[in-house]
Amino acid sequence: MMKFLFIVVEMFVVASPCVWATMELHASPSFNVIDYGALGNGQTDDSNAFLKAWKDACNASYGASTLIIPKEKIFMLQPVLFHGPCKPTILHIKIKGTIVAPNNIKDWKFPESTRKAWIRFKRISGLVIRGGGLIDGQGAPWWNSYFNTEINRPTALHFSECDNLFLSRLTHINSPKNHISINRCNGSLITKLHIIAPNESPNTDGIDISQSSNIVIKNSRMETGDDCIAINHGSTFINIIGVFCGPGHGISVGSLGKNGAHHTVEEIYVRNCTFNRTTNGVRIKTWMGGQGYARKITFKDIMLVEATNPLIIDQQYNPYDNVDAVRVSDVKYHNVRGTSSSAHAIKLHCDKTIGCTNIVLKEINITTITGKDTYASCKNVKGVCYSCNPHVSCLSHN
Ligand SMILES: *[C@@H]1O[C@H](CO)[C@@H](O)[C@H](O)[C@H]1NC(C)=O
Ligand SMILES: *[C@@H]1O[C@H](CO)[C@@H](O)[C@H](O)[C@H]1NC(C)=O
Ligand SMILES: *[C@@H]1O[C@H](CO)[C@@H](O)[C@H](O)[C@H]1NC(C)=O
Ligand SMILES: *[C@@H]1O[C@H](CO)[C@@H](O)[C@H](O)[C@H]1NC(C)=O
Ligand SMILES: *[C@@H]1O[C@H](CO)[C@@H](O)[C@H](O)[C@H]1NC(C)=O
Repeated sequence: MMKFLFIVVEMFVVASPCVWATMELHASPSFNVIDYGALGNGQTDDSNAFLKAWKDACNASYGASTLIIPKEKIFMLQPVLFHGPCKPTILHIKIKGTIVAPNNIKDWKFPESTRKAWIRFKRISGLVIRGGGLIDGQGAPWWNSYFNTEINRPTALHFSECDNLFLSRLTHINSPKNHISINRCNGSLITKLHIIAPNESPNTDGIDISQSSNIVIKNSRMETGDDCIAINHGSTFINIIGVFCGPGHGISVGSLGKNGAHHTVEEIYVRNCTFNRTTNGVRIKTWMGGQGYARKITFKDIMLVEATNPLIIDQQYNPYDNVDAVRVSDVKYHNVRGTSSSAHAIKLHCDKTIGCTNIVLKEINITTITGKDTYASCKNVKGVCYSCNPHVSCLSHN
């Protein structure tokens, strides 16, 4: 099964750029935001120019069209919504310059009453965003504001109902909240991103995924104040390959099942990822009283550098009988190596009624920074361990 999945992933990764390259051969008009009145001086609101250029790019009667955001300029944007569907099959956005948010909270002008996000893309299929530019969310005033808790800080870049999204070669810095959120999208390839926010900045996740399928995130670097990647409810076939995370909170499945919600996540594959001084490595977290499942999850070839909680399942402990929990099953950890900043390297903590089943650990070697032994703890876990340091006593051994 995993082998099959891997082949599918590689085909997608290899095939997709060819498809886009072919599309580019056809006549394809481009729309430069400067021609629509954008000044790019870093101060003036360029949102209207962007929206006008977008309207023409989106309405072009061609197979492909391109929106150009030129280099060596800084475009200040208010919260904007780029709405589809668009006529072209492929819509390129070449971000070569810098896009910045307003630099203090009172200057943000949210449309209607929504504070959801800064730059939103909705219902656009075949959206290709790349170009080597920078997207700066100017998050610092939001992080420091006592009144602006997680609920009303905006996401920097929000994609919803965007099938066949391709995002590559961009730098994202200092979002007020999460940098990129992907919701209800099917088929995305995300490569060569660099996401940077200070390690103490609150909720500045790198990429959050929900209700989406067939997403590949490859060869990217994320230095954030929260999860590098969080995989949330309704996600299936998510592949994360070659991500360097740290500082940050690691790669998480969940949290799932909060306030009794029915949440499902399955077919998650995380491979060749490095965690450098992260507060977690690979984590699965569910809430007591939730329903649904997190299953068929593989973490393979994971390198740890002084990670805290390198390997953790937290199916929140429930002291009561007959309370539901999100089921966690079929989770594999294969070839996880490196150092933990604490001796307690493995925590498999599951609910006493539901428990976690078929948890497989294979070729695990986690030591402390000083080379001392680490240890594992577990509650209500069933599974197998092949060649594990530390020894995981609750699992059967082969
Ligand atoms: C879209 O383009 C067509 C011509 O191809 C034009 O008639 C129509 O007004 C345009 N719509 C918008 C919203 O610009
Ligand atoms: C996603 O797209 C693939 C290929 O186009 C399709 O087979 C699949 O049914 C879609 N899945 C969802 C959840 O829309
Ligand atoms: C593993 O990931 C790193 C990025 O962290 C990348 O440079 C390297 O090519 C990847 N190796 C393989 C075998 O995928
Ligand atoms: C880990 O991060 C530290 C800075 O926090 C850096 O000095 C070190 O080179 C990084 N390690 C690796 C393996 O990249
Ligand atoms: C585990 O890692 C330590 C430190 O890198 C190393 O000395 C040891 O040989 C490794 N053990 C196995 C079984 O690979």
